[in-house]
Amino acid sequence: MSDAVLSQFKKAEEEKAVDATKKLRVGIIGTGWIAEAHIDSYKRMPDVEVVALADIIPGKAAAFAEKYGVPAAHIYGHHTEMLAAEELDAVSVCTYNATHAECTIDCLNKGINVLLEKPMCVTLEEGIAIRKAEKESGKVLSIGFQPRFDPNMQMIKKIVESGELGEIYYIQTGGGRRRGIPGSTFIEKSTAGIGALGDIGCYSLDMVLNSIGYPKPLTVSGYKSDFFGKSPDYEHHDVFGVDDFAAAFVRLEGGIILDFRIAWAMNLDTPGDTIIMGTKGSVRVPSTECWNGSIGGPLVIYHEIAGEQIETHIPMKHNDVDCFDIKIRSFVDAVKEDGEAPVPCGQILYNQAIIDGISRSAELGREIEIEIPEI
Ligand SMILES: NC(=O)c1ccc[n+]([C@@H]2O[C@H](COP(=O)([O-])OP(=O)(O)OC[C@H]3O[C@@H](n4cnc5c(N)ncnc54)[C@H](O)[C@@H]3O)[C@@H](O)[C@H]2O)c1
Repeated sequence: MSDAVLSQFKKAEEEKAVDATKKLRVGIIGTGWIAEAHIDSYKRMPDVEVVALADIIPGKAAAFAEKYGVPAAHIYGHHTEMLAAEELDAVSVCTYNATHAECTIDCLNKGINVLLEKPMCVTLEEGIAIRKAEKESGKVLSIGFQPRFDPNMQMIKKIVESGELGEIYYIQTGGGRRRGIPGSTFIEKSTAGIGALGDIGCYSLDMVLNSIGYPKPLTVSGYKSDFFGKSPDYEHHDVFGVDDFAAAFVRLEGGIILDFRIAWAMNLDTPGDTIIMGTKGSVRVPSTECWNGSIGGPLVIYHEIAGEQIETHIPMKHNDVDCFDIKIRSFVDAVKEDGEAPVPCGQILYNQAIIDGISRSAELGREIEIEIPEI
């Protein structure tokens, strides 16, 4: 049996195993590009019904309902209209970054479970407000980092947790594209709030922080620039209002140093591979264009065996599952079983704190302390 046939068979078996007697009533806020991936996954789940859609652009949610085959879904404009009118079990927040916080907090305050797209929000202040609302609601809030479910990503964490690298003391991470500034709502200050730093930087940060157990960030010296976005050669330079490159030196609890660089555009192929250095060994994760937090090739561990300096190449694991589907399914399961959020807000708050710290430090032109209250 071919892999493709086998995975279809496995998918059918999994779908059969789900209890579809009570359907989860789901709403989607923001019916743009990423909402398409959410609805595709939800529609494959026999125990989920997408019953409501909201988008502030007139006609957009209705056209989406038509195109993606949920004509019975109730259509709204602003998310507050949907929340006032509907009884929902869960919501996917698929809006641009600038409205992540208000949509998520409004859902949680109404007792609705939330799957929030990445990055968590724009500022640390918003992140703290989201975390407080999550705690007060007692509901599931998961953040949309699907690379967490990639077996190659999981291998990095397994290597670190195995002790093979010894004590971790220095990390370099980041990545990016030679030319690859996205358009539309990703580049305006009012909708995106942050640029490459939040859009793809959050993935790089999650890759390494998740592998080392998300230590608290303490201080940051950050830099950001917009030379490519503001260049007259770039077609949307007149509306470009965010960063297209960011870099930082971050001190983490436990004495670990995090050296970070991320780019939507640069005169370079890559700002460097991800490396995690430990007292017994180090791992190199080949860089990618970093569109979606994937890794660029086999991991290499540099260590000593029997007194010899050895390089161990870890073959890439074949991924026959769709990480996006797992992101959605694991959220649905957590809601149904009253379980833990698959990608917890408490962890991603530290990711957000670093992004916010880089931005503020860059604006101040000096190192700053990162202060995260106990919530
Ligand atoms: N996980 C991934 O792989 C992935 C990939 C792409 C984008 N994203 C994230 O998804 C988010 C959305 O990206 P996109 O490309 O779909 O953006 P988009 O601009 O295409 O869609 C966002 C939609 O939200 C609507 N909206 C904003 N505020 C609203 C509100 N209060 N009520 C109702 N509607 C509202 C806008 O009108 C817009 O149609 C971004 O934060 C982005 O970073 C994640």
